[in-house]
Amino acid sequence: MKYDNIEQIAVIGTGVIGASWAAYFLARGLRVSAWDPAPGARARLREAIDAHWPTLIRIGLTAGASRDALTFHDTLDAALAGADFVQESGPEREDLKQDLFRKMDAALPSSVVIASSSSGLLMSRVQSVCTHPERVVLGHPFNPPHLIPLVEVIGGERSSQAAIDTAMQFYRAIGKRAIHVKKEVKGHIANRLQAALWREAIHLVDTGVASVADIDDAIAYGPGLRWAAFGPFVNLQLSGGAGGIAHMLEHLGPPIESWWADLGEPVLTDDLKARIAAGVDAELAGRGNAELEAQRDAVILGILAGKA
Ligand SMILES: NC(=O)c1ccc[n+]([C@@H]2O[C@H](COP(=O)([O-])OP(=O)(O)OC[C@H]3O[C@@H](n4cnc5c(N)ncnc54)[C@H](O)[C@@H]3O)[C@@H](O)[C@H]2O)c1
Repeated sequence: MKYDNIEQIAVIGTGVIGASWAAYFLARGLRVSAWDPAPGARARLREAIDAHWPTLIRIGLTAGASRDALTFHDTLDAALAGADFVQESGPEREDLKQDLFRKMDAALPSSVVIASSSSGLLMSRVQSVCTHPERVVLGHPFNPPHLIPLVEVIGGERSSQAAIDTAMQFYRAIGKRAIHVKKEVKGHIANRLQAALWREAIHLVDTGVASVADIDDAIAYGPGLRWAAFGPFVNLQLSGGAGGIAHMLEHLGPPIESWWADLGEPVLTDDLKARIAAGVDAELAGRGNAELEAQRDAVILGILAGKA
């Protein structure tokens, strides 16, 4: 489960994403040295890891994996000491990340790759403050990283191929599904795809085509099940029968293009946001987030077992 002698991961920023990353790294038998400047962060990290651990046991722990391999430090420099790889998950602000990356870059040997979890910031801008920008990459996870395998790896203008390769191979070695995004685009790949779907879902609510609950069902009991098995292109391949995707695009290409021309461009007005929130309230009928998260995680565990 180890790649290229990467044994100690510095997890910098231990909020929602950092804590989930830390739990995952520990479950893969790695040592984690963590830092977060918020008061109470040490205790919250331990609590979060304890909460994630039963799920990680169900996924399967690497031999020797232990929550005792976590150390939490009072300073950034102490957490970075001895780290072989850094996973940064601090707040999503360019000025803050630049300040943080400047400090991490100064503290670490140039051979250590620093990966940021950032959802939307450009690594070209974050790395611009570093003396060794070539070792800075984006390693964007999906919430919660201890459960969802996808990691999007993206270099900035000055990232080296070696750093991108190291990040890709490291993530893959610890069981992640790493993909390489070749160009810096807003939202990377998966969030852009989600954004396309959200745009149309919200447009359909806005124009009264269906209720929030029915639109949710349309995905969760329809194509969402296929998409968990295969991505959009392989699904098209299967929809095309013996002729595969080539036949599918020939046959259904014109109608699909006519649907594209008809897709909406909703504006998130206060009224529309309130209607969507009311629709979700009606759909959930009082079921709370804890119950929904437990249900989501159980379903995802089943899917992951099926895909293994
Ligand atoms: N939440 C998501 O769904 C999600 C998914 C993928 C990626 N991300 C990315 O992960 C990163 C963290 O997001 P989050 O949702 O965990 O946020 P969060 O607010 O839960 O956690 C951020 C943590 O950073 C800490 N922090 C504050 N100042 C810091 C500093 N100077 N250096 C280091 N840490 C500092 C905070 O105390 C907090 O614990 C962001 O870049 C975000 O874009 C979030």
